[in-house]
Amino acid sequence: MSSVVAKSYNKSADPVVAYCSEHTAIQTPLQVELQKETLTNAPMGGMVGAPEVLTFGQHFIQSFGGKRALDVGTFTGASALAWALAVPDDGEVYTFDIDHTNYKKYGVPILSKDQKTFAKIKPVEGAAVESLDKLIADGHSGTFDFAFIDADKTSYPAYYEKCVTLLRSGGVILVDNSLRGGKVADPKCREDPSNAAIHATNDIIFQDQRTRSALLNLGDGTHVAFKK
Ligand SMILES: C[S@@+](CC[C@H](N)C(=O)[O-])C[C@H]1O[C@@H](n2cnc3c(N)ncnc32)[C@H](O)[C@@H]1O
Repeated sequence: MSSVVAKSYNKSADPVVAYCSEHTAIQTPLQVELQKETLTNAPMGGMVGAPEVLTFGQHFIQSFGGKRALDVGTFTGASALAWALAVPDDGEVYTFDIDHTNYKKYGVPILSKDQKTFAKIKPVEGAAVESLDKLIADGHSGTFDFAFIDADKTSYPAYYEKCVTLLRSGGVILVDNSLRGGKVADPKCREDPSNAAIHATNDIIFQDQRTRSALLNLGDGTHVAFKK
């Protein structure tokens, strides 16, 4: 069982995955700069979103004219930037992180070079479960077009549930790290709480009657759910 996380910027990526990524991922110069800065200087820089997953998400947003996006797990802002580039000028990207230190230190100096895109990004600092609950309490249920889940793995079931509530009918959720380098397919690896939580989330999504879904071997695994 391979434990290599198949992101296109990893030198050891599977050749078939690499081929698919080469024919999928599209990055603007600002995205390239942010990825390079993150991988070079940010602590645990390999957490940065895989370009092929970000491109895939952008295509959904642009295909259905999505305006409002949820980005659960900001880190240095790579996924928030991708969604901000995809939504129109009056679009909004709420990006959640328990701690925006990395975003401010590595992301903001690069993102702020493109003020039009940067202005669409709304950073929300704090535990994302609570931040999403606040959006629900404030009456935002059913108002978002797109969600990307990429934060602490043990909270994935809660993030999925809250994102389904916040999305409108026809909205799309992408759940990152849904394969965890293949580990979730190996029952022995599911003793790890993060792997167990991802496996549970995959089961929840597959059985959820409120969405249609597909688990794809894209990036580190991408579970796609379409809200009915
Ligand atoms: C994999 S990184 C996100 C990568 C980012 N989406 C990208 O594309 O580059 C995961 C992030 O989740 C954040 N995180 C961890 N626990 C969290 C929590 N309880 N609430 C919100 N964010 C959390 C971490 O601080 C980290 O920045």
